[in-house]
Amino acid sequence: MTLTNFKKSLRDSIFKTIADSAEELSIDSFVIGGYVRDLLLQRGKSKDIDIVAVGSGIELAKKVAGKLKGNPRVSVFKNFGTAMIKHHAWEIEFVGARTESYTRDSRKPVVENGTLLDDQKRRDFTINTMAISLNETDFGQLIDPFDGVRDLKNKIIRTPLDPSITYSDDPLRMMRAIRFAAQLGFNIELKSLQAIIENKDRIKIISQERIVDELHKILECDQPSIGLKLLHTTELLPLLLPELTALEGIEEIEGQRHKDNFWHTLEVVDNIAGMSDNLWLRWAALLHDIGKAPTKKFDKKIGWTFHAHEFIGSKMVYKLFKRLHMPLNDKMKFVQKMVRMSSRPIILSQDNVTDSAVRRLVFDAGEHVDDLMTLCEADITTKNAKKQKKYKNNFQIVRQKIIEVEERDHLRNFQPPISGEVIMKTFNLKPSKEIGIIKDAIKEAILEGEILNEYKPAYDFMIKKGRELGLEQK
Ligand code: CTP
Repeated sequence: MTLTNFKKSLRDSIFKTIADSAEELSIDSFVIGGYVRDLLLQRGKSKDIDIVAVGSGIELAKKVAGKLKGNPRVSVFKNFGTAMIKHHAWEIEFVGARTESYTRDSRKPVVENGTLLDDQKRRDFTINTMAISLNETDFGQLIDPFDGVRDLKNKIIRTPLDPSITYSDDPLRMMRAIRFAAQLGFNIELKSLQAIIENKDRIKIISQERIVDELHKILECDQPSIGLKLLHTTELLPLLLPELTALEGIEEIEGQRHKDNFWHTLEVVDNIAGMSDNLWLRWAALLHDIGKAPTKKFDKKIGWTFHAHEFIGSKMVYKLFKRLHMPLNDKMKFVQKMVRMSSRPIILSQDNVTDSAVRRLVFDAGEHVDDLMTLCEADITTKNAKKQKKYKNNFQIVRQKIIEVEERDHLRNFQPPISGEVIMKTFNLKPSKEIGIIKDAIKEAILEGEILNEYKPAYDFMIKKGRELGLEQK
């Protein structure tokens, strides 16, 4: 046991309130879990505090709430024997120390009262078992029976019990291990990695929402590929995102090879993580090539093709989001749009960039054109320095042209300069297909750069187009 005192770190009055409340109830209480871990890692103080009481956590929570200004509400989760208080920025969770045993088919444990040590044993990782006493006799004392401090120093994710018990008890922990490794830059102990492989199928009893929560956290890391690679080596990835693992491998026919799109994707995700914090853009990077597995073909004349993979990929995004119970809202639509358009700027950057091509890109991507450019720059993973430089330069040119086109034509959230009503009035028309034809022609003329995106030139163009269609002005 490490004899270290953290009295000074628990100076906030909230800890004193909890300590006093526990003393009045004659029970022992401890800060435990993530708060202690992050304190020792000096990771920036967490606002989530987990308290374990050797007695009733719910009673302790009620007592604490009674002492706090404004008497915050106590949310009681009777089934779990836990209670939660939100006070200022704090979110404090109380639980009674317990021993738990699990049945094979459920995460719901059979719970009995236990000692602090019992409670520490049933937690996920040694770095999350460390507790700090709030008791009068040894306030601030670190209680670390599983050498969490040593594991923090050695950057190791290790389970307090035999890993197959810890993971089988709660299979979500397999993903938590990987997520912590990715977030903290730690290694998972070999024994633990093996236990994850053995227990991988038990991930099926975990709800999609919890799984997605962990996937989000992995994608939010500075280098998401650390977590994704671990999901791959532990064989969890095909159970979670089979669309991604289907991209793995290189085929060769008649001396022609294509790149390994799985490992390429991981590079793209890391690249984008260095460029944007937008979680959904990171999802788009992760999924941008998923249409390549079902569309892959070999053609004797042109070699490997992935015809329409962007379109197929965007359809797959919907199915994947649905399966994972992710929101089917504007976030999903954004990811679909990014996947669908993911090759557009690359084509532009290879050719001589025309203004009209850029105008069409801005028109189609709308408010998301910058995100699309970021995704496409992240997509450059060629190891050929010359090509790398050429593509990057060309993207600079495309970005510059986007600014110019924007200044001139304001296409980002395009509103037609001439409404259907104006067309109807001018030519004395009832609703008819001619109106659509004229509106479309005006839009095309703007995108081609024939006219400015303004009322007067669009009006003149409408008159000309109307005449071509044999319409008479009123
Ligand atoms: N815990 C566990 N098994 C789980 C989830 C949580 O043993 N499947 C324990 C750990 O001791 C953990 C504590 O409960 O430290 C609190 O869990 P949680 O708030 O989910 O995680 P934190 O460790 O606080 O980390 P983060 O906030 O980054 O998720």
